[in-house]
Amino acid sequence: MKKPIQIAIDGPAGAGKSSVAKKLADKLGFIYVDTGAMYRALTYKALKNGMNLSNERSLVELAKITEITFGCGKVQKVFCDGEDVTELIRSPQVSQKVSLVAAYPEVRKYMVKMQQSLGQNHNIIMDGRDIGTVVLPHAQYKFFLTASLEERAKRRKLELEKKGYRFTNDDIIEEIAERDKLDSQREVGPLKPAEDAIVIDTSNLTLNEVINKILAIILGENNDAL
Ligand code: CDP
Repeated sequence: MKKPIQIAIDGPAGAGKSSVAKKLADKLGFIYVDTGAMYRALTYKALKNGMNLSNERSLVELAKITEITFGCGKVQKVFCDGEDVTELIRSPQVSQKVSLVAAYPEVRKYMVKMQQSLGQNHNIIMDGRDIGTVVLPHAQYKFFLTASLEERAKRRKLELEKKGYRFTNDDIIEEIAERDKLDSQREVGPLKPAEDAIVIDTSNLTLNEVINKILAIILGENNDAL
């Protein structure tokens, strides 16, 4: 069997990673793993169980007894112990706490191991914060998507409005700036581009333009590999 192809997509909150990764995976016939959804699902379950989020050990124990799985389909469904949590894990309550949970080194160690085992034998696209640097350091393709804070907040506001949430621009800017800060400053697996990542600023690009840019790079270089 040919060596599986791995594509890593990292970047800050609201840069469009998940939408790009999902569409690319559909086009290429690759498996898509949304690693943010895994940290979100763990945070959701911890909040639901009324757990103390400052206790790293109990969060790791919780992770070990939690089954997080993905469905396929137009929208990628996320299941936590069999419960469909696709929408629940994107609630503002989870968004506010997820970076705290994701900063714990032992939580990350466990999650990274899970993510690496998912990526072993398949052509895969994974998105997150530390995919190109830690989870798939040997990925053949690494992309880091960015966009201005204002643009990312605008996209996130639209996404939340579609789900019935109402927030001001300032609230959203504050939430994602805070999350980016926590994600960038943590000691283990911080948000940063891998040295060999291609950085794409998506501020003035549509979703299709970003996908076409990435596809041109992958297919241009590797026509018979896919
Ligand atoms: O969709 P959005 O970009 O807002 O976030 P996400 O990809 O769902 O990730 C939610 C949070 O999970 C991030 O803010 C990080 O704190 C954490 N995360 C992480 O630490 N490492 C990853 N590989 C993916 C997500």
